[in-house]
Amino acid sequence: MKEQLLNMKEKASQALTSAKTLQDLEDIRISLLGKKGELTAILRGMGGLSAEERPVIGQLANEVRSFIEDKIEEQKKALVASERAEQLKSETLDVTMAGKKPVIGKTHPLTTVLEEVKDIFIGMGFSIVEGPEVEYDYYNFEALNIPADHPARDTQDTFYINDNVVLRSQTSSVQVRVMENQKPPIRVIAPGRVYRSDAVDATHSPVFHQIEGLVVDKGITMGDLKGTLEVFMKTLYGNDAVLRFRPHHFPFTEPSAEVDVSCFVCGGKGCRVCKGEGFIELLGAGMVHPKVLERCGIDTSVYSGFAFGLGLERIVMRRLNIDDMRHLYDNDLRFLNQF
Ligand code: DAH
Repeated sequence: MKEQLLNMKEKASQALTSAKTLQDLEDIRISLLGKKGELTAILRGMGGLSAEERPVIGQLANEVRSFIEDKIEEQKKALVASERAEQLKSETLDVTMAGKKPVIGKTHPLTTVLEEVKDIFIGMGFSIVEGPEVEYDYYNFEALNIPADHPARDTQDTFYINDNVVLRSQTSSVQVRVMENQKPPIRVIAPGRVYRSDAVDATHSPVFHQIEGLVVDKGITMGDLKGTLEVFMKTLYGNDAVLRFRPHHFPFTEPSAEVDVSCFVCGGKGCRVCKGEGFIELLGAGMVHPKVLERCGIDTSVYSGFAFGLGLERIVMRRLNIDDMRHLYDNDLRFLNQF
């Protein structure tokens, strides 16, 4: 029996040293020290021993057991340590390695320029207002002194939802909504989408954007309109920009003007961009027609006002030298990422 126990100790020592995993260790422990293990089997023979032999063998058996247990513990620690070392090796982090560049989005050129325009007007004390894109005929035409059958309707042919409701063809509709709801002094700009049944080409789209401006107060004159537009244009195009007012007709302003800005490419000499004119048409403007003010319940013996309307796409295209409006709506990142 003594032989058997020493043999077992020897075998266990070898098996344990070559165990590769914690599971191996556990399997070995069960096969040696478990209820049905080798040690139990050996000790079953204790009955046949003499009274002198029994304590000697018993002590030896205990020694073998604690030897094996210690060995298992020791081996366990070694395995855990080497596993951890492996893990550290495989998870090494090179903090000096170049990072992956995240894809960062940016605002669309239309939004960028609109924000700039808003900032300029906010700086002059204007508020930003909005109106509905699906609009009553009344606000889009009638209240702006464009009755049914007026020829001005033809130039702004739009999409009709029914006889009374249209997709607004101009942001001027917001002027009326503001004046109905707010007493002067009024100082607002109203940016937004407008619709016209135009065929798509390099300079036309059935959906585009306008920015409307409206100021109503005591003693407002054409001089205030000119000064306001001058500050706006010079901030946008630089201090050398020169404004030119040309007489025009809009049903909702009297007098009315079309406003041009000196060509920012040639500075006014005449070039391909301004088609030899030296100036580029930028917006429509004028003094708010008394009929429009009165319809909104504003006393024209006390108040007067000016209004203007400009196309956002036109400003963006000029600003960024874009020759085809369709690029602005294609959502092609190869194009948009240039700005
Ligand atoms: N709504 C006009 C258009 O779309 C532009 C315009 C002209 C707006 C004169 C105005 C204005 O406020 O006073 O053609």
